[in-house]
Amino acid sequence: MLGFLRTMVGRSGMVKPSCLVRPVAVTRITGRYLAHQESLPKLPVPPLKQTCDRYLAALEPIVEEDELQHTRRLLEEFQTGGVGERLQKGLERRARKMENWLSDWWLKVAYLDYRMPVVVHSSPGVVLPRMEFHDRQGQMRFAAKMISGVLNFKTMIDNETLPVEHLGGQALCMHQYYQVLSSCRIPGTKSDSIVNYSQGRRPPSHITVVHNFQFFVLDVYNSDGTPLTVDQIYIQLEKIWNSSLQTNKEPIGILTTQDRNTWAKAYNTLIKDRTNKESVRAIQKSIITVCLDAPMPRASEEQYRSRAAVQMLHGGGSRWNSGNRWFDKTIQFIIGEDGSCGVIYEHAPAEGPPIIKLIDHVVEYMKQSEMVRTPMVPLPMPRKLRFNITPEIKNDIEKAKQNLNIMVQDLDVRVIVFPHFGKNVPKSHKMSPDAFIQIALQLAYYRMYKVCCATYESASLRMFRLGRTDTIRSASIDSAKFVKAMDNSAIQNMEKVALFEKAVKGHRTYTDMAIRGQAIDRHLLGLKLTAIEDLTSLPEIFMDTSYAKALHYNLSTSQVPAKTDCVMCFGPVVPDGYGVCYNPMDEHINFAVSAFNSCEDTNASRMAQTLEEALVDLRDLLEQTPKAKL
Ligand code: COA
Repeated sequence: MLGFLRTMVGRSGMVKPSCLVRPVAVTRITGRYLAHQESLPKLPVPPLKQTCDRYLAALEPIVEEDELQHTRRLLEEFQTGGVGERLQKGLERRARKMENWLSDWWLKVAYLDYRMPVVVHSSPGVVLPRMEFHDRQGQMRFAAKMISGVLNFKTMIDNETLPVEHLGGQALCMHQYYQVLSSCRIPGTKSDSIVNYSQGRRPPSHITVVHNFQFFVLDVYNSDGTPLTVDQIYIQLEKIWNSSLQTNKEPIGILTTQDRNTWAKAYNTLIKDRTNKESVRAIQKSIITVCLDAPMPRASEEQYRSRAAVQMLHGGGSRWNSGNRWFDKTIQFIIGEDGSCGVIYEHAPAEGPPIIKLIDHVVEYMKQSEMVRTPMVPLPMPRKLRFNITPEIKNDIEKAKQNLNIMVQDLDVRVIVFPHFGKNVPKSHKMSPDAFIQIALQLAYYRMYKVCCATYESASLRMFRLGRTDTIRSASIDSAKFVKAMDNSAIQNMEKVALFEKAVKGHRTYTDMAIRGQAIDRHLLGLKLTAIEDLTSLPEIFMDTSYAKALHYNLSTSQVPAKTDCVMCFGPVVPDGYGVCYNPMDEHINFAVSAFNSCEDTNASRMAQTLEEALVDLRDLLEQTPKAKL
């Protein structure tokens, strides 16, 4: 996921220069937060030779020998001919001048300039455990508590009392937390933008609630600035429900599922009307959106999570809940009448972990909060947002429905709970659980396709100010040696274990290097964008087939750990690829695997099953090979 490089290369392998101009919105936060931010180091620019050497090593398992030789020559020329050195110096100059040399570029290249729909292609969903309620009251009560939990979290953001997070003993950048509430993406014809109202003089005090495709503004603060109680929110939600019983309304929100250029045109048509413009603005400004969903098609217990994943990712299609969303909204909580619940978030402002932190907080808060009846001051009726639907807008909605339904048909998602072990087994073998899972993924892919593929794993760069992500390339020389050996009966188990351990260690070393700002992918991107900004010709290393192969991530993966027993999910980043997200718990692992039905070669269920088998086989290999002999 995400922030993935799918966006960085068009068919020509070029990044459009237009992506280089728009700055990141600057927020006005002071005090404790700022002091913390200023104490963080700046993202370094890795040494040129280090990146070139590591790039070549990363290519070895995924390109042909003749391609590798060609790239080796190109890299030598790049380093010795002066071009590489000049670009490196340019990048270092940029790094000295800016808070973070990468973050503006990354926001634009990975998100705002990306023209595919945010639905399926960019926005991750989160599937929460199914709730017990089976009726409207249960749904309302749950939604009220959830909203109250979000407001409780928001208080920590507003007071700047959110505890600083750590990774590998280092404090992390907290910037993303300040970007996710009261914010929204806005479509543009070449590039989108993000608005964030949380730092304005009068920050919003409302959320938006959508039910039966009808949007409402719900004020969640009293006039003295205190948040509404759960009880009060519940009563307001009931009012919303009762005034949105008609099910024949135009699904205006479905417009947000279109590719960004089409949506940008439709957006301009939509907001020509003043009422529509005000309604859209109210959604954009709101703290979050809460989607009260109609029941989805029934699913067996076994299928439930996979069905919930598609509900979160796209709403199920125009017949179901896809119109019950505003997909540009940064955070949308989704609560179905049938007990389904989860989240979808627009990816541009933040990575998964801050969103999961918010969810963990809300889930904990909900365990504690009781529905205490408080003396009621009558609250005003939540305001329904009106839309004037002209024939042109109606036509745009119809086109959006058609395109969305094609996307819905195409997405195949399988969510599994791997029950045999969690982080406990790798830890007992003194292995990094994440590296263990990544090597299992390599094995699963190799077993299915008999080749290794370019693999993306997100690594956090939040040790640095305004840091986002870099790439851990999980397909390595060592992982390739291991996966080829694993099913070779001529090789002894002891040797397999040694190869497995080496691959796992190598992965963990790559991870450490990536989170410390020494991975190769963002550095290469920086060199490429420097060349484009300088209007010099693009160095050949970026027009090379090896580079295109390196960026064609058949496996796009991410660990998003949570305390809650949930799983994040996202679509593949290439037509013939898989999206794999996982939450390793202590004794089990939640996986979400996605693929496209239109690709004959991929199959999410088969990949999920092969992955389960790979994990079990790896455990068995370790447990059946006596330690003393290792
Ligand atoms: N022996 C025993 N235990 C070990 C071990 C070993 N050799 N190596 C690691 N562990 C332990 C760790 O101490 C940790 O313990 P905890 O459960 O008590 O916290 C646990 O195993 C997990 O460590 P590991 O599996 O190595 O992963 P990690 O937590 O360091 O995470 C990344 C690795 C890459 C996921 C993380 O660095 C990262 O970058 N996360 C952000 C990813 C992101 O942004 N994703 C979202 C994109 S939208």
